[in-house]
Order: sequence, then C-alpha cells, then structure tokens
Amino acid sequence: MITSFPRISPKLKGFMHGADYNPDQWQHSPEILEEDIRLMKLAKCNVMAVGIFAWSALEPEEGHFTFGWLDRVLDRFAENGIYAWLATPSGARPAWMSVRYPEVLRVNASRVRNLHGGRHNHCYNSPVYREKTRIINSKLAERYAHHPAVIGWHISNEYGGDCHCEHCQEAFREWLKERYGTLEQLNQAWWTTFWSHTYSDWSQIESPAPHGETAVHGHNLDWKRFVTDCTVDFCAHEVTPLREVRPDLPVTANMMDWFEGLDYRKFANILDIISWDAYPTWHDLQDLGQVAAWFSFNHDLFRSLKGGQPFMLMESTPSMTNWQAVSKLKRPGMHLLSSLHAVAHGSDSVQYFQWRKSRGSSEKLHGAVVDHVGHEHTRVFRDVAELGEMLEKIAEIAGSTVPAQTAIIADWDNRWAVKDSQGPLNRGIDYENTVIQHYRAFWELGVPVDIIGSEDDLTPYKLIVAPMMYLCTEQAGAGIEAFVADGGTFVATYWSGIVNESDLCHLGGFPGPLRQTLGIWSEEIDGLHQGEGNVLVCNGNSSLKMKGSYATYDLCELIHTEGAEILAEYRDDFYAGRPALTVHSFGEGKAYYLATRAQEPFYEDFYGRVIEQAGIDRVLETDLPRGVTAQLRADEENEYVFLLNFSEEEQEIQLTDTRLMNMSNKKTESGSVILPVHGVKVLKRQKVNG
Ligand code: GLA
Ligand code: ZN
Repeated sequence: MITSFPRISPKLKGFMHGADYNPDQWQHSPEILEEDIRLMKLAKCNVMAVGIFAWSALEPEEGHFTFGWLDRVLDRFAENGIYAWLATPSGARPAWMSVRYPEVLRVNASRVRNLHGGRHNHCYNSPVYREKTRIINSKLAERYAHHPAVIGWHISNEYGGDCHCEHCQEAFREWLKERYGTLEQLNQAWWTTFWSHTYSDWSQIESPAPHGETAVHGHNLDWKRFVTDCTVDFCAHEVTPLREVRPDLPVTANMMDWFEGLDYRKFANILDIISWDAYPTWHDLQDLGQVAAWFSFNHDLFRSLKGGQPFMLMESTPSMTNWQAVSKLKRPGMHLLSSLHAVAHGSDSVQYFQWRKSRGSSEKLHGAVVDHVGHEHTRVFRDVAELGEMLEKIAEIAGSTVPAQTAIIADWDNRWAVKDSQGPLNRGIDYENTVIQHYRAFWELGVPVDIIGSEDDLTPYKLIVAPMMYLCTEQAGAGIEAFVADGGTFVATYWSGIVNESDLCHLGGFPGPLRQTLGIWSEEIDGLHQGEGNVLVCNGNSSLKMKGSYATYDLCELIHTEGAEILAEYRDDFYAGRPALTVHSFGEGKAYYLATRAQEPFYEDFYGRVIEQAGIDRVLETDLPRGVTAQLRADEENEYVFLLNFSEEEQEIQLTDTRLMNMSNKKTESGSVILPVHGVKVLKRQKVNG
C-alpha cells in the first residue's frame, strides 16, 4: 500500500497556504502589489492562484496581448519566495469575443442563446472557443511555463453546465453513434418503443429539453455522460498546449462539492493534482456535525479520485461567504478547525477565495484575507496567520496519505439514474443524504473511508458499502461478487440492483447482479408517507449479536432470503415478521442487506459491529462523543491523528494510546484530554512496526 506521495511541487517542502489572487483588478494601483507581498509574508502565505478570470486583462482586443502586469506580479513573487498556480482564463471571456463570435455563447435547454455576461457561459464544443482558448493557453505556456514562481497550472475555474447549440447536438449524435454503433441498438438500449419514441434516423435525436423529450431515462443518462465527456475533452484540449511546452509542470482543475453535473472520476486521468473548493456553511441552523460529515465525505471523495494522492483545498473562505441566506462569521477557532479538517482528510494545501476583497461587483463583500480596510490588524488576518504558523509546525505531514480499509461506492451514473426514476419516492429519493447517513457512522466511529466508483479496484479494502446502488451493471455485480468470495465484507441496501447501465430493469429478480452475493430476492418496495414508519426488530441471537429495535421510514422492501441469515425483521404493517436486515456468508466473505431506511442510532450501532467482525481499525480505540471525529494520515514511519470537535460543546476524550505527541507543543497527550468548542488537536505517533 502506498503511504506517501512526492510533494505536489518539489519547490515546496510543506503545505501550500494562500489564495486566489486577482491583481488584474488592481492594475491602476501598483502600490497594492507591493503591500500584498508584505502582507502575504506576514500571513505565512506561500502560494497564490493567479489570473483565473484575467482574459480581458491578457487579451484586451483580439490578438493583442498585454502580459506586462502579469510579468511584474510573477517576478515580484519569485523575488519574495511566493509561488503561483497560473490560471488559464477560460472560465469567462472578453466581450469582444461574444460579440464577434456569438457561437461561443451557450444555448440553454429551451434552445435560447445566452447573452454575454456572467461566467461559464460558453460552449465547450464551439470550434471558435476552442481555438481562442488554445491560443491564449499557448501564449501563457510559452511565456510562463519556465518562470521560477510558477509551480503549476490552474485550469479554468469550476467547469460546469451544458450547452444545447447545433454544434453540441451534432457532437451528441456522433457520441451516440460511437456508443451504440447502430440506431437499432440505441433504440433497444433506450426502450424507445415506449410511447412510440423510436428513432428511424440519427438526425432525429436531440438533447433532452423541457419542451421536448424528458421521459426516456436512458436518453437523459446518456446526455449527462456526454456533457461530462465534452467537458473532459475541453479540459484535455486546454492542457495540451501547456504540456507541449513543459510536460512536468502539474495541472489541476478546481472542482465543486460532489457536483452533480459532472462525473469527476473521468477527469482524474488528465489532471496531475485534484483540487476543490470547499465552502462549509458553518453555524447555520444545521447540526455542525452534519455539515462537517458532508465536507469530510467530499474531502475523501476528492482524495480517492487519484488513488489516495493528496489533493489541494483550492478555495475556502477565511471568514464568510456572501451567497448564503445568512452570512455568518466564523466563530473563534473555526478557521483553524475548518482548515485542518481538510488537511486531516488528505489536503496538502489551504487556499482561499480570495486574497484581497474586490472593490466592486457581486463578490465585493465575500470574505477575503485582506479586507477593504487594507491592513493586517483584523481578526480574519490573525486567524489566517495563526493557521500559517500551525501549517509550518505540521509541515512533515504533507505528502502522507489516508490509509482506508473501508470504501463507500458512490457512482455518478447511479446518482443521476436513481434521481430520474419515477417511483418509489417521487417527493425525493434522497440519494445524497442516504450516502451521508452511512458515511457519518464511520465518521463518528473514527474510521477512515475512501469514496470510490463501482469500476474501481475493490481489492485494497476489507469493507465495501454501496448505499442505494439502483444502477448496478453486470460487471459491477461480478466485481462485488468476487470481492466477497475472496473474503471481503459488503453492505448493500434497499433499492439496489434495479437497472443496468441503460436504465433498463434487470429481469429475473432484484437485486439483479447482486442477488446471488446477497442471498436474497427483493419482491416489492413500499413507499412511506412523511410521518409514517416501521420498526426494525433485531434478533439478539443472530451472528451479528445486534439487539433492540430501530425506527425506519421512507422505504421498506419486501424481501425473501435465498441462503441469507435474518438479522432483523419488520415489526409493523402487513409485512411484520418479514426480513429487514440479512447477512449472507458467501465464499470467504459476508454480504449484508438492509431492506429499509433506518434512523440513527441504527447506522452507528450496525457499523460498529460490522467493523469489529471485518477486522477494521479505528483511528483511536476509544468512544468518541457525537460530533467529534478522529481522522488519520500516515507515512512510512508515522501516523498523524487529527481529533476534531464539531459538537458545539467542550468534550472530554479518553486517550488509551500512550504514544501520542501533540504537534503544536510537542507534549505527550494521554488519559483524559479536553477538546474545547471548535477545538482540534494534531497528534503524532510512531507506527507500531514502522
Ligand atoms: C467559487 C468560485 C470563486 C468565487 C467563490 C465564492 O468557488 O470559484 O471564483 O466565486 O465561489 O464563494
Ligand atoms: Zn454548444
């Protein structure tokens, strides 16, 4: 197993700390650049992401390039030991381009072309947009790829959205021809005989539209896959001229939290580094632990995209955002906690949006390191500088990874399909919350988790959990079967193995390709109204030894065992006494099936037992209060334990391990330790046989 990776840039020994920097907004005030450099050093910031939306400043008129301002910024950085992720500016474009070449503007699903404005408002398949992007990227590469301050490329900004223009319609048809070969095969895969939707010529196929086709699930699914493929292809197109000039300079593209519009797994091969933008809505009305679990899940997802390689937190706010319903300030301690939260899950950076507050436009009141007051004597600046100091103290952790023995399967295909399906719960199938419901149990137990796709390698894991795997291909089913046969533990839930990759139902009994592994047949599923429920009653004498009963809601599946042992049954309704939780011994392994959506504390109790039986290590062998998690990074010799308190209360934790050294004061911590409100501790221990 890999336990550490080379530093993201050989020029940096520890963590990256910095922000999006937009000096193009301050070209008329050259003194700002000088002051910024002084402040960056003061805040212990060493890396900036520069020029993300600077296309107009770089090419004010077509073919006329102005690099002087950027030369000055990068030169001053180099003289001061500050590094840059240099951006390609394709996230927004100059007005001259939209006016001269309207084809670059996006067409929405209603087939209306957008006007110039906003950002991400362009067609990834437009030949003109691609050519203009190639030109500006080539110019940037020629001029800056070997600049001493530049440590990598920041490709565009938060790719997203789709376009329905004629170029895109044609590209979609070509994509479909490649996928299906013949129209007959496409018609079968999409089940187009339904409502007489059969196509007799490729030219009849259009993208889904609110005033056109929306009812063919395979069609909707393929459109989403196509949008991902176009965006990946555009990203690859952006990267080509950069790599031509300097192949060893890493490229990254900043992503958004579990963004529904793009299957991010498909980007992993063309990016050297995964990076993402995290904006937790701390201190809103939700339980802090729930917000933290969602962001933990995301950190794990992004780390898992490239096999556990450290990722970059490319944006976060040093204080508040300005797009939430209520813009809450970060409470004392929260900046440190929230930033180390990312580090705990494998980030080798803490970067912000943005360095200096803009003076005008929609983000002028968004949190930034340097406020409009212009100096360092602010609470936010002190928080940032404090974190800078802490990152220096824990610098040796950079490059280490998270050793997870457990993985949760979360496929974009499945997510798209299960939400598009009509029935059994059209008020919302709650796919994402369901995944987090399972994830949070591991988070509370302090068990590291990878988030993987069903096509990924399952062999590194002891336990695989696949919440609501509605779309399950024969291939994925076979992979899971082999994993369990070889001794792995697998957990599946209700509403799994229903359809294949084209959203066609599996014939011959659900859960289709998982039926044999799970040893059950699911005959029907009952949707429950809000307020309705059932109760899952455990059989205390079962092999899992789980006792008591747990409330369930939303969905109850009526299953038959086909070799599985019954661990719990329903208490109520006409299906009282029928199995609600089962386990099947299959080959060397075990496969659990949860037939209904249970409420907490089911998941923590259940997974607590499952991990014990599967021989999975917890980061700390101690009870963690609800809202407190322990996360782990490790290299060849050491383990780094992050104790994070998201419970809103001071907490006492019993540390039974006597090898833990606090990295901020170098003192040993053991026995009863106190974690203050929003408190975090970074503890180091030597590996037992390291
Ligand atoms: C996104 C963008 C940034 C900025 C922030 C504000 O993450 O990438 O440019 O708009 O949101 O929160
Ligand atoms: Zn288009």
